[in-house]
Amino acid sequence: MADRAPVVIDPSGRDIHAEAARIRAHGPVTRIALPGGLAAWSVAGHEEARRALADHRFSKDPRKHWPPLAEGEVAADFPLIGWILMDNLTTAHGDDHHRLRKLIAKAFTPRRVEAMRAGVRAATAELLDALAGAAPGEVVDLKARFAHPLPARVICDLFGVAPGDRARLLRGGEVNVDTTVDAAEAAANVERWHRDMQEFVDAKRRAPGDDLTSDLIAARDETARLSDSELVGTLHLLLATGTEPVMNLIANAVRALLTDPEQLRLVRQGRVTWEDVIEETLRAEAPVAHLPFRFATEDVELGGVTIARGDPVLVNFAAAGRDPGVHGASADAFDAARKDKTHLSFGHGIYRCIGMPLARMEARIALSALFERFPDLTLAVAPEELEPQVTFIMNGVLRLPVRLSATRHRGRPGGRGETPVTPR
Ligand code: HEM
Repeated sequence: MADRAPVVIDPSGRDIHAEAARIRAHGPVTRIALPGGLAAWSVAGHEEARRALADHRFSKDPRKHWPPLAEGEVAADFPLIGWILMDNLTTAHGDDHHRLRKLIAKAFTPRRVEAMRAGVRAATAELLDALAGAAPGEVVDLKARFAHPLPARVICDLFGVAPGDRARLLRGGEVNVDTTVDAAEAAANVERWHRDMQEFVDAKRRAPGDDLTSDLIAARDETARLSDSELVGTLHLLLATGTEPVMNLIANAVRALLTDPEQLRLVRQGRVTWEDVIEETLRAEAPVAHLPFRFATEDVELGGVTIARGDPVLVNFAAAGRDPGVHGASADAFDAARKDKTHLSFGHGIYRCIGMPLARMEARIALSALFERFPDLTLAVAPEELEPQVTFIMNGVLRLPVRLSATRHRGRPGGRGETPVTPR
């Protein structure tokens, strides 16, 4: 690895963007020290990230391509063990990746996602109805009451997770992105989610339903295209990715609009679309900030450095989205009206996000319905008082305290633009 001292990653994710800028200042591909002291590379430049994502010399399979794991040097005391000990698309390479992806991608084609639109609308309306019960001026946590339950409900419905089981089955993914948990907690989390998910699979096998879990079990049982471990790992992955980044996309967009009333005005006046807001949020506030892991299968030259065979690599989506080489001096500013909103926040190439059409649809429905229903929505704290989620892997807020109406209770309004936006 290069001589320069590595940038030490803050596990609590206090300031994702300041850290991304620090990493970028060292170069587009920079040495970092992860929690637990592990040395890795962060790919922070947009072009370098695009290349790394498409370069098959980087593998996502630690069992095959991370020598310290094969040599038994990793297990017990590694805080990010949850990112290693899962058996699914995020740890698969080559033919294994291709096989798993083919099986799962079928469920998320644009046509299948379109068929989910009515369900997403209904879930949105129900959650907004529940919010409307808040007292005038009451502070509510929009993340806990809306940005999280919406995607959680959509993905759990899709996989046939009963309401009573949801919190338990989603917990593995929540703890996995908390990069402040110590090694013992991380290991306990892995054990717990394997057990919980296995119990869920066993129950579904006994009583299948009209849901994707039952489809995956049938694929496993009838064609052996999926091992038991992959089945459990895949369910864990899909429940987690179906919830966590979508929650951040919605919450980050709301935060951006409520922080800068001019941006919200642009939407209200029809000068930018909700799609513009969503793409700008993905660019400037990448919901997945710094994703582990890839491993070099041979020495790779990238961004002026040599990544040695076996070195772990993280793609820094938060940094890439704000690369001044692509977005100029205003790269850090949230501006839904900017022409070029190029980003890699859903990945690129053969690993590109399978849930992209679903995530965009959920965010579109959630944001338009929320601001239509609560036109006086404001942040209940100063933007700088919003606490970040405790993670360097994701980019979001811990809570999103808002007031739905400033002083009085409001029923469902007739339509967009009926009530002026209250300037903050
Ligand atoms: C705003 C929301 C989302 C963001 C920002 C996001 C981001 C990403 C990124 C960056 C990757 C690429 C990982 C890599 O290259 O290693 C990815 C892959 C993936 N995403 Fe998403 N995701 C989102 C929503 C979803 C949803 C809703 C699902 C479906 C339930 C999903 C399922 C997946 C899967 C299965 C992969 C693995 C693809 C592969 O390795 O071939 N994601 N996502």
